[in-house]
This record gives sequence, C-alpha cells and structure tokens, in this order.
Amino acid sequence: MSDRPRLLPLLGTPRHGSRDAMTCLYRCGNACDHPVPNTSDNAYFGDIVSAEVNRRGVLSAGAVGALVLGFGTAAGATGGSVPAAAAPAAAEVTGFRRPRPPAGTGALTFKPIPPNKLDTLVVPNGYDHSVVIRWGDPVVPGAPRFDLRNQTAAAQAKQFGYNNDFVGVLPLDRRGRRALLVVNHEYTNEDLMFPGFTSMDALTVEQLRVTMAAHGMSVVELERVDGTGQWRPVTQGRRPYNRRVTALATKFDLTGPAAGSAWLRTAADPKGRTVVGTLNNCAGGVTPWGTVLSGEENFNQYFVGGDAVPEEVKPKLARYGITTTARYPSGSRRWERADERFDLAKHPNEANRFGWIVEIDPFDPESRPRKHTALGRFKHEGANVIVARNGQVVAYMGDDERFDYLYKFVSDKKFMPGDSWVARKHNLTLLESGTLYVAKIEQTSAAEIDGSGKLPADGAFNGRGRWIRLVSGTRSYVDGMTAADVLTFTRLAADKVGATKMDRPEDVEASLLTGKVYVALTNNTDRGKPGKAPADEANPRNLNKHGQILELVEDRADSTAETFAWSLPIVAGDPTDPSTYFAGYDKTKVSPISCPDNVAFDAAGNLWISTDGNALGSNDGLFATPVEGPERGHLKQFLTVPVGAETCGPFITEDNRSVFVAVQHPGELTGASVEKPASTWPDGDYAKPGVVVAWRLDGGPIGS
Ligand code: FEO
Ligand code: CA
Ligand code: CA
Repeated sequence: MSDRPRLLPLLGTPRHGSRDAMTCLYRCGNACDHPVPNTSDNAYFGDIVSAEVNRRGVLSAGAVGALVLGFGTAAGATGGSVPAAAAPAAAEVTGFRRPRPPAGTGALTFKPIPPNKLDTLVVPNGYDHSVVIRWGDPVVPGAPRFDLRNQTAAAQAKQFGYNNDFVGVLPLDRRGRRALLVVNHEYTNEDLMFPGFTSMDALTVEQLRVTMAAHGMSVVELERVDGTGQWRPVTQGRRPYNRRVTALATKFDLTGPAAGSAWLRTAADPKGRTVVGTLNNCAGGVTPWGTVLSGEENFNQYFVGGDAVPEEVKPKLARYGITTTARYPSGSRRWERADERFDLAKHPNEANRFGWIVEIDPFDPESRPRKHTALGRFKHEGANVIVARNGQVVAYMGDDERFDYLYKFVSDKKFMPGDSWVARKHNLTLLESGTLYVAKIEQTSAAEIDGSGKLPADGAFNGRGRWIRLVSGTRSYVDGMTAADVLTFTRLAADKVGATKMDRPEDVEASLLTGKVYVALTNNTDRGKPGKAPADEANPRNLNKHGQILELVEDRADSTAETFAWSLPIVAGDPTDPSTYFAGYDKTKVSPISCPDNVAFDAAGNLWISTDGNALGSNDGLFATPVEGPERGHLKQFLTVPVGAETCGPFITEDNRSVFVAVQHPGELTGASVEKPASTWPDGDYAKPGVVVAWRLDGGPIGS
C-alpha cells in the first residue's frame, strides 16, 4: 500500500480540476478518481412554474430581533450546564452586539488586492493581520511544547489540530475583550506532518494515532489586543473552556430518530447511541443559542474492507463513496492499523456513525458533543441556522459531492429567547426533532441552457423551487424506507424523490438581515460529460471549473416555507470570460474569483466568499460583495492565502472589526515534505495550517 503521490512526476501540477494531487489524496481520498456516487436517474428538472423571482425576502423586524437576541442569549447562556468557573464570564455576553444597519447597499471601500502567487498572506492597504494560532500550539492548559520530531497522540490531543477549516468566534464578555474561538480540524497530511515520511505503511501506530488526535475541533479562549481588531489566545490562568475534540477519544451522543437504530449498532456500542470521534469536520455554523455545528464530510476515506461487507449493504456504502470492490481505497488513511473499527469487514456499521452534523457547546467544556440524526447523513459540508418568523429554527445544509443535493431542516420546537437556564436547556434540544427536506429546482429558461454559461434572454439564471419532505420526526415520506433508513441513507432517499443534482453544494448560509440564503456551488468538472447530468439553469456550465453562487429566497420571507425562488447572482471565473456573471455589475470592476467554498456576512449584510482550488492559477482568497442595491455584484478581493493553501472560515465578528480566516493546507503541493516545503508559512521553516485575524489599522469597520 503505497499510493502516495510524492514519487509521481507531477510536482506542483493539478491532477483533478484545479486542485493539487496531494490535496485530492489527503482531503477527500482522491474522490475525483472514484466514480460519481450519485448514479440515480432522477429527473434533472421540472418545467417552469413561474418566471417571477420573489424578491420580497426581507424578514420582519421581529424575526431579526429574535435572531440578534438569540446570539446574545447564546453567548450569555449560563445556567446549570456551565461550570461555576465559567459562569461569571459567560454571563456578560453581548460585547459584540450593536444596532444592526439595514442590509448593506453601500460600496465596500477597501482597494481590492490583485491575484498573486506569493507565499504569504496579503490584505489590502490600511489593514493588518496576525496569526492567532497554528498547528501544534497549546490549547489545553499544560499542553507540552510542540516537538516536530517527537510527536505523540497524547501531546497532539492537547495542542491545536491540523488543517483548520470552520472558524467561529463567540463573545465571552460585554466589553468585547474576550471570546471563544471554535475551529474544525478537517484532515491531516502525513507528508507535511512527519519528517522523513515515506508511506502510510511505514508510519508507526503511534503516528497514526497522532493524526487521529489532529482531527476534530478546538475551543480556545481569546483576548483582544489593545482595543484593536487583533485577537490572540489567552496564555495564562485556568482557561476553563479550552478543549480539544478528536477522532481518537471524544465520545459523542447520537440524538434523533435514527439514534439506537440497527444501522448504528456495533460490537462496541450495541445500543447504537454513543460514537467515539468525529471525522473530516469541514464547515459549520454558530447557532442562535451559542453552540457550534460542524459537518462530517469525506468520512468515507477512513474505512477499509468495504469489499467484504454483505452484498446487500454494498450499495449503501457505495452511495457514500466507500470502495466496495477492493479492501483498500485509493488514498486509504490506514487507520484500521490503529483501531479495527475502521475495518468494515469486522464492523460494517461503523461507517454509518459518521457523516452527521455535530453540535458542540463551547460554553460547557464538560458537555458531551452530539451527532444529530434528524439532520440526515451525507457528506455534510456544514450547517447554518436561522430562526424563522414563527420561532422554529431552520438549518441549511449542502452535500459536497459532484451531483449531490441541497437540504434544509425545520425544527419541531420553537426557539426560546432569553438567558434563562430553562431557555438554554430547551434550545439545546431544537435539532433533535423536525422535518428534513431536499431541494428540487425548476427553471425559467431551460430551452436556452446550452452549457456555455450564456445568460438567458430573460436576463437571469433563475426560477422557482420546492423543498421536498423526506422525513418528519419518525414519519418517512419516502416509499420503502423507514425514518431511520431515510436519515442514515439520506442520499438514497433524496435520489428517490428526484432531488436536483447540483455542482457540489458547499457552505449554505442565510443572511440574518434578509433571510435570503446563499449557496456556494464550488465546481463540477463532470457536469455535461457523457452519461452525466447536463447543464441546467442553476448549474449552467458544462465542465464547470469555477462554480457559482445561488441565492434562494423563501416564499413569503418565511424560512419554513416549502417553496422558494432562486437566482444566480455570481457565475464565477475571470470576468473577461463571457460565461461569468456578477449580478449585471460592470465586469471591468470586479475581481476574478474561482471555486467559492465558504460564505459569511458582515454586520452590514455584505456577502463574503472564500475559495478553494482557484482554477485561474492564483492563490486562493477571500472576497466580498454587497448583495442588495446598486453595488450588488461588485465583488472585490480582500485577502489571499499562501501557496498551496485554501481559504477557510471566514468569520466576521459582530462588531465588524475583525475578520478571521483559516489557512488550510499551506504548501500542499505534490512532492513537498517537511524537509522540502512548498510553503514556509507562517514561521519561515515548514508549512503549518493556522488561523489568521485581519483588522483595519484605523479601527474602522471591516470592508466599508
Ligand atoms: Fe471540506 Fe466541501 O469542503
Ligand atoms: Ca431565466
Ligand atoms: Ca469546504
């Protein structure tokens, strides 16, 4: 077993689309080498229902108020579940709160930075940045100093993990001086972690355990630096919230209708209710009640032995990208050498225990994180929650695979505002029961879509759509599948109801100012290939290298609605490329962008977009654009990350003074190693993933 890429004559050249072969190998187990898991023949589109886009998507003031209150409540949640040591700090929480302006219609004033290939992080003139925390830095008090040449699982389990992705920053005090940083650690790159690395087979079991400890999440207490937008870790004192969650040892409770089902039972957990570890945590979201959601994404690559499971189980594994024709998939992590539960030949249900949305309460370091089965199982990019007008909470989610789907969850129970212990306890149950939907999208200009990206005559890629019910509580809406079946094999259920095949739905997030939802569709170079779904109005380019942003406006501005209107405000690429579109804005004035991945909003409601795999050849970065008014579509590049890295996060603090990004996999180019790094960011020696904060030197708001 030595399918590492480092000996291949591919130094620095992309193999799959725009991503380097090393990233393909480690991040998603060479997913592009595998057949597309969605082989369903569900219809691509229905016909036009209405050509009119519903643009009355503004939430009532009451709804926005509920959400803002919710965030305050979140951070303020103290109650019985927060340890006494933590309670005094957590009790004063609204430090980042301020009156929200109307949804942003004004110009972003920073001067955009040009595309570049520099091995450094670049921000606009008038801004500065610093590294907040990097791989190996201490997290848990007492963590040993990082020792590159003597890494141990015990040390890594107390240190900042590898390949940071999601970033959330939750206020800890009213003055905005302290906050909790919550970060996902998606995957590891053994070539770049271990000096002298030769192959996965040559790694010791202890080194495999190091990589398992380097996965998961970190919670780190931060302090503001001298009243500026800069933040740094608190390094003294008890730091009661600081915590590592790992794939190695952290226990998770399963909740919801599929918890305890036969699909989730294993020899080690015969009740099917407790899972050890979380895997490949990609994006996520901060909930209105102050917890963090995290998506388990490419979990398939951690399992071997799929060829030896019972024949009737194989389709259920294959739909999730697990190899069922060979013991070892391409790019196998070989974790079964450290823990036999990753061998499906022995434990065929173990893979069913990953691919969920995870919820962690950073304000309660003793709490056990949970995996919510009610939100379905797929390659979860992440989940972001908004409180609907009637108080139900709605989570929007993407399944990041070529030709997979867009989902939403609507809770049964309603959000309870306020800081009381009762409210806190209640809100922690909101994601345990509800209705799971998948999106079916309809077109207005189907006859004009030829795969070139040419804008239709009606002036928009747009249409209407429906949320199709899959399951509600324990009631299944899918023929031949129980609720537990639907939730555990959600992709198969969505195939059956004819969901729309999308160009890799990544981050999905609603603007808290307008309720409009933005979906990053990152790329799909298989679109339109023989035997694959052709272009459609929402995925309008064949061999789509650069991706697009979809804006979804729920009918009646009601986040619980079962119908919606949609349009594409951005079809990404070089603006000189006629297939690109920037909401009709003058394309000579916008920045080139490729492969949108994560989305976020600033306090003015501007949309921020980070990229992964820039197919235009420059480094990845962070961009921003207004989404309302005459400046809609005026996209500008705010930041670039170093060579080989992708830009994750991003997160803009509620006071609009700090923007956090995660620099993931710097220097991840084929042939690179610790000894021969392709990037020396951030310290000038070897490449280390890390979280960065950028701020305006004059103390003003970010972007504007
Ligand atoms: Fe981990 Fe879909 O990005
Ligand atoms: Ca149209
Ligand atoms: Ca991502």
